[in-house]
Amino acid sequence: MKLLAFILILISICAALVAFISRALDDNLDLKIVPRENDHIHPGNEFRHLFWFVQVSDIHISRYDNKERGPDLVRFCDSHLRFIKPEFVLATGDLTDAKDSDKMGSRQYMDEWHTYHDVVKKCQKITAKWFDIRGNHDAFDIPDMDHPNNLFRKYSAQGKEHQSSYVHHHVTKYGKYSFAAMDATPNPGPKRPFNFFGYLRKTEEDALRQFDKESVDSNVTVWFGHYPTSLIATESGQNLHQIMRNVTAFLCGHLHTLGNLVPHMYTRQKTGLLELELGDWRDARIYRILAIDHDLLSFTDEVLGEWPVVLITNPKHAALSSPYHEPLHRIQASTHIRLLVFTPGTVNNVQVYIDDIYTGKAIHVEGPLYVLPWNSADYQTGLHSIRIVVQDSLFNRKEIEQPFSVDGTKSFLPFWPRFLLMLNIASVLKVIFCCLSLVYILVLTSLRQCSNIKTYFYMTDRWFPIGLLSSCFNQWVYRIWLVSQVGGLFYPLVLFVAYIALGPWFVGELLEGHTGLVFIWGLIVKSSYIPTCVTYLYGVFQLLTFNIPLLMFLGYFLHYCRSSLAASNLFRQIRHIYLPLFALVTVSIYMALNEFPKAYGTRALILGPVRTGSVILALVLFYVAKINAFNLQSHRS
Ligand SMILES: *[C@@H]1O[C@H](CO)[C@@H](O)[C@H](O)[C@H]1NC(C)=O
Ligand SMILES: *[C@@H]1O[C@H](CO)[C@@H](O)[C@H](O)[C@H]1NC(C)=O
Repeated sequence: MKLLAFILILISICAALVAFISRALDDNLDLKIVPRENDHIHPGNEFRHLFWFVQVSDIHISRYDNKERGPDLVRFCDSHLRFIKPEFVLATGDLTDAKDSDKMGSRQYMDEWHTYHDVVKKCQKITAKWFDIRGNHDAFDIPDMDHPNNLFRKYSAQGKEHQSSYVHHHVTKYGKYSFAAMDATPNPGPKRPFNFFGYLRKTEEDALRQFDKESVDSNVTVWFGHYPTSLIATESGQNLHQIMRNVTAFLCGHLHTLGNLVPHMYTRQKTGLLELELGDWRDARIYRILAIDHDLLSFTDEVLGEWPVVLITNPKHAALSSPYHEPLHRIQASTHIRLLVFTPGTVNNVQVYIDDIYTGKAIHVEGPLYVLPWNSADYQTGLHSIRIVVQDSLFNRKEIEQPFSVDGTKSFLPFWPRFLLMLNIASVLKVIFCCLSLVYILVLTSLRQCSNIKTYFYMTDRWFPIGLLSSCFNQWVYRIWLVSQVGGLFYPLVLFVAYIALGPWFVGELLEGHTGLVFIWGLIVKSSYIPTCVTYLYGVFQLLTFNIPLLMFLGYFLHYCRSSLAASNLFRQIRHIYLPLFALVTVSIYMALNEFPKAYGTRALILGPVRTGSVILALVLFYVAKINAFNLQSHRS
C-alpha cells in the first residue's frame, strides 16, 4: 500500500510538472488586442515609414583569446555598415572579456577597453550613433559605479553620459521610436562567475519606468540589454514582463545561442513582447539587422561576410508578430510586398515565390528597398510561405523562405527557445536544488526509522514488470538503508546537505580589496547582499557530483563488506572499493582546488567548508564506514 501511495505521489508530481511547464511556455497573449482606429497608412511602393538598425552582442574583446575580435569588428564596420547604412548600432553587452589567462579569474583590463574604444571610434566614422550597454563581463570586479575599475564609464561609447540604463528616442517625421537600454548587472559587481544572472536594481527599474512614461506616445518601443529576461531577478520583486508591458521587442545576448545549439533563440512572451536573443560576435561573428517598416518590426541574424542580406518587412514573419503592439492589419491593407536587400555589389535579380509559385520580380525603389505589388486577399486565410531569391553582381545568390499570414494565424515556435526564454531559470534551479536535497534527507531519515526495510520498501515484480529494475532498486534501497543505520555516517551526511543549503560555502575576495561570504542564497560583500542564482546551479552540481555519489559509494562499500567475498582478494578490493573512492576524492580535490580559489584567492580553499570540506568528509566517512563494516563482520563471525 505504501508503495502504491509512493507511485501515485510520483505520478502526480510529474503531471503537475508537465502542466506547469506547458503553461509557462504557452505564448498565447494575456492581453486584449486594440487595433488602431482609422488607420490610413498602409505599406505600398514608396520609400517611407522605414528605417533599420543593427545589433551586435557578446563581443568579448580579449587580451588572451582570439585577438581578431576587435579588428574583425572594425572590418565589419568598414565592409558591412558602410553598405548597410543603419541609423544606429546597439551593442548588447560583454564588450570586453575581462577574464584572466586561466579563464577562472576576472578583472577589468585597461588594454581590452582601449581596443574597444578604438574599435568604436573607427566604427563611429561610419555609423555615428553607437549605443552600448554593460554585460556581466563588463561588470566583473566593480565595487561601485564610480570605482576606477569601472572602465565602461570611460572607454565605452555611452559610458561618459550613461553609466547604466538610458533611453534614446529616434524621432522621425512619421513617428517616434524609443530604444531603452536596460542595465541589469549587479552592483557591486562580484568577480566571475557570480554575476551570471541579472539583478534589476530598484534605481534601474525606476529609471526604466520613467523611460516607459516618456515612450507612451512612441510608435514602437524597443528595449535592449545583456541578459535575457528569464535570467533577471528584480529587487522590487515585480514581474519584469509586466514592467515591460508596453515594449514591442527586447533585444539581448548573453546565452550565445548556447554555442549555436539553439540558433533561433526567439520567443513571444505572454505580454506580446518579442524576446530576441542574438548569437555572439565572440565566436560566430553574428550580427542582426532590424527594420521597422510602417511600425512592423522584422529582423534577420547574419554571419560576417555572407552577402547578400535579405530582409522581408512585409508580410512579416508569422511566428514573430506581436498583435498587441504591432499594427498587423497593415499586412492585409498593404499593396506591395516589401523587402530590403543589402550587398556591396549591385542587385541583379530579386525573384519572389509565394507557396512555391513564382509571383514576380521585385523592383528597386530606393536604398535597399525592393517591392512587388500583391493582392493580400489572395492569401486571406491560414499560413503561407514566401520565398525570395536574390542574385547580385558579385555572383552571390541568396534564398530565404519564411511563413506569413494575412489573418494573423501564428506559426509555431520551437520548444527550446521558449524553454530558455520563458521559464524563470532561477526558480527552476532553486526548485531542482530544494527537491534534490529534500529527497536526499527524507530518504535517509525514513530509512533510518525502519528496522527491517523488507516490510516497507521492497518491491516485488508485481509492481515492476521488469524484474531486473526492481532487484536493482531493492539492492540500492538496501545499501542506503545500511548507511542510514550507522549514526556516524547518517548524521554527517544529512547535516552536510543541510549545511550546503544554509551555511556559507567559502570566504573569498569577491571584489578587489573586499572579502565576502558566499551562501547558496546569495553573496554578502561590502555590507550588501547580492542574490546570485547561479549558486543554485553549483548546489545542484555539488549534490550530483559529490553528496549523492558519496552516499552510493558508502552503501556499496558496506554491502560489499557484508558479502563473503570481501577482504579476500586485494585486486577485487582495489576494483570495487579503492578505485571508486579514488575517483570520488580526486574529483572533489580538483573542484576544491580549481574554480573558487582561482577566482577568489586561496582563502576560498582554506576557508571553504563546502568544497574543501567535501574532500575531508569523503575520507573521514570512508574511515567510519570501514570501522563499522569491520565491526559488522566481527559480529557475524
Ligand atoms: C506613429 O504614430 C503616430 C501617432 O499615433 C501616427 O500618427 C503615425 O501615423 C504613426 N506612424 C506610422 C508610420 O505608423
Ligand atoms: C503602458 O501604456 C499605457 C497607456 O498606453 C500606460 O497607461 C501605462 O502606464 C504604460 N506602462 C505600463 C508599465 O503599463
